[in-house]
Amino acid sequence: MNIGDLEYTDEIKKATDDIYQKVKDVIPPFEWPVYAPFIHKINQLKKEKNAVILAHNYMTPEIFHGIADITGDSLALAREAVNIKADIVVLCGVHFMAETVKILNPSKTVLIPDLDAGCSLAESITPEDVRALRKKYPGVPVVTYVNTSAAVKAEVDICCTSGNAKEVVESLDADEILFLPDQYLAANIQKETGKKLITWPGSCEVHERFTAKEILDYKESYKDLVVIAHPECPSEVVEAADYAGSTSGMISFVKEKKPAKVLMVTECSMSDNVAANTPDVQFIRPCNLCPHMKRITLPKILKSLTSLEPQVELDQDMIEKAKGSIEKMLAVKSR
Ligand code: 13P
Ligand code: SF4
Repeated sequence: MNIGDLEYTDEIKKATDDIYQKVKDVIPPFEWPVYAPFIHKINQLKKEKNAVILAHNYMTPEIFHGIADITGDSLALAREAVNIKADIVVLCGVHFMAETVKILNPSKTVLIPDLDAGCSLAESITPEDVRALRKKYPGVPVVTYVNTSAAVKAEVDICCTSGNAKEVVESLDADEILFLPDQYLAANIQKETGKKLITWPGSCEVHERFTAKEILDYKESYKDLVVIAHPECPSEVVEAADYAGSTSGMISFVKEKKPAKVLMVTECSMSDNVAANTPDVQFIRPCNLCPHMKRITLPKILKSLTSLEPQVELDQDMIEKAKGSIEKMLAVKSR
């Protein structure tokens, strides 16, 4: 099949109309004929090949609402990965997320439509760095954010995500903890738990760009604006916000509280995804995109599902070592 040859026919229009109704407020009608043939074909192929698509909350609306079977934050995707029945998993997100799925499903085919979809946090630290820190701080437990490579996860005691970092830190019987590699998440969790977190100079290239001044300026410009932020933001940004939580925490906040006006201080595709479900909420959108998440597109997903490439490959030894820190995290009760 030539991927460029897909046409928007009457049959495809009819078959995808219920999906378009969900996204019509965030995808203009003239764009739909470009997306619909891919959505239709991908949804057909999923059935034929017994494949499931897991998509992070930062995927664009045509992926998030059009083809994903399971959507969520990093914690939800890791939890769902334990129960997958399909033979093939397509992870629409970044590489460390696909590795987590592979670690929890070593016998399944795990696809990521672009192997270069990385993460500035995962790039910031190596297994050698963790070994050196263990030498420098003997006996201090090591927590690593899931935004790290499998090789780093293989070196640590337990993982966490932004959705359970507080609970993971509190579950450890220690007052001093190595918390790697996000310096901002560490500072925010240190405040919440009162424990001393030794950290690493890693940061998310998307969230570190937000400033407290920007948030206060928005609050001044829009009366009664509710600001919700991701905890990968610097502490002064989190302090200026009305709520901080994981991407799924932020989505639940909007769905439950239905603020009249909201500013989501995070990657901007997420506002589009939530806006499609909450037409009564006005979204104020500073647009910081994650260039890694945006590598995942419908044509690449179709190509990947057609060719069953590129696959996430990890050796068995690495899987065994990294699995322990992920399973320990999944055993910690979170909100
Ligand atoms: P969440 O776990 O909150 O979805 O965050 C993942 C991520 O990469 C945020 O930048
Ligand atoms: Fe990594 Fe930040 Fe992109 Fe999330 S938004 S994948 S933390 S670079």
